[in-house]
Amino acid sequence: MDLNLKGKTAFISGSTSGIGFTTAKTLLEEGVTVYINGRDQLSIEKAVIQLKDEVVGAKVFGLVADFSKFEQVENLIKRLSEIDILINNVGIYSSKSFFETSIETWQEQFQVNLMSGVALSKYYLKGMLDRNWGRILFISSECAYLVPPDMISYSTTKASMHAVSRGLALLTKGTGVTSNVIVPGSTLTKGAKTFLADKAKKYDTSPEAIEKDFFNNDRTSSLLKRFASTDEIATTIAYLCSPLSSATNGSVIKVDGGSSGGIL
Ligand SMILES: NC(=O)c1ccc[n+]([C@@H]2O[C@H](COP(=O)([O-])OP(=O)(O)OC[C@H]3O[C@@H](n4cnc5c(N)ncnc54)[C@H](OP(=O)(O)O)[C@@H]3O)[C@@H](O)[C@H]2O)c1
Repeated sequence: MDLNLKGKTAFISGSTSGIGFTTAKTLLEEGVTVYINGRDQLSIEKAVIQLKDEVVGAKVFGLVADFSKFEQVENLIKRLSEIDILINNVGIYSSKSFFETSIETWQEQFQVNLMSGVALSKYYLKGMLDRNWGRILFISSECAYLVPPDMISYSTTKASMHAVSRGLALLTKGTGVTSNVIVPGSTLTKGAKTFLADKAKKYDTSPEAIEKDFFNNDRTSSLLKRFASTDEIATTIAYLCSPLSSATNGSVIKVDGGSSGGIL
């Protein structure tokens, strides 16, 4: 499908692997110039090489920035002055009880998960409004709805994103700019594969059995009953980046396999 994205430029935070990486690939296939990001030069170079191998003629570049360090975000903005599409994808989490989660962990997760998107939007939204076209996407999580007791800090950062995105959308009234939230459910990234493989080894069973067990016991609300592939998330992100999604603004779009429940 031609998403009418040729000639656009996108930045994706935290995109050397996982959902961000697959989104980069999907946008490159649509003719978008993509700036990927991670914390170190080596992992970025590896990802750029892989994307160039997989997508003929890919216009892909890398920008190092650790979103836990504000000065690195400022440097990134100095190096990339203008983009059409901003995908606030970077996200970190921990699995710990509320009482064991330190205030520093809360602060770090807010810095990386929420403030990265705030800082980048504060800068790039202005240019988008001036040019009367742009897309801002916040990658949230099913945890914003489920709030697992061992992930309260992560879930809170994700829920906050929804308010920021809605607020930004109100600033775009009457323009060609939109701001939306995408809510992935459990997704088969490298991290998830390692989690399944390690647990399978520990309990002397297969990753498939562990996956089944996860959806029977931990994500009981899932209708999909399996991890989504990164492609399944990236295709929805790519559509929302495109001019085809022009009537969707200030919205929350779920790609969570039904896990967050409810009708909203
Ligand atoms: N996977 C899931 O099941 C799932 C479910 C719901 C929502 N989500 C959300 O979807 C988004 C992507 O998740 P994912 O699972 O695809 O991620 P991931 O596989 O864990 O990817 C991590 C990426 O983030 C980068 N990164 C980590 N910390 C960073 C930092 N401080 N500054 C800059 N880059 C950083 C890593 O780069 P380097 O290592 O190269 O530095 C890597 O490119 C996140 O916001 C996550 O919360 C994921």
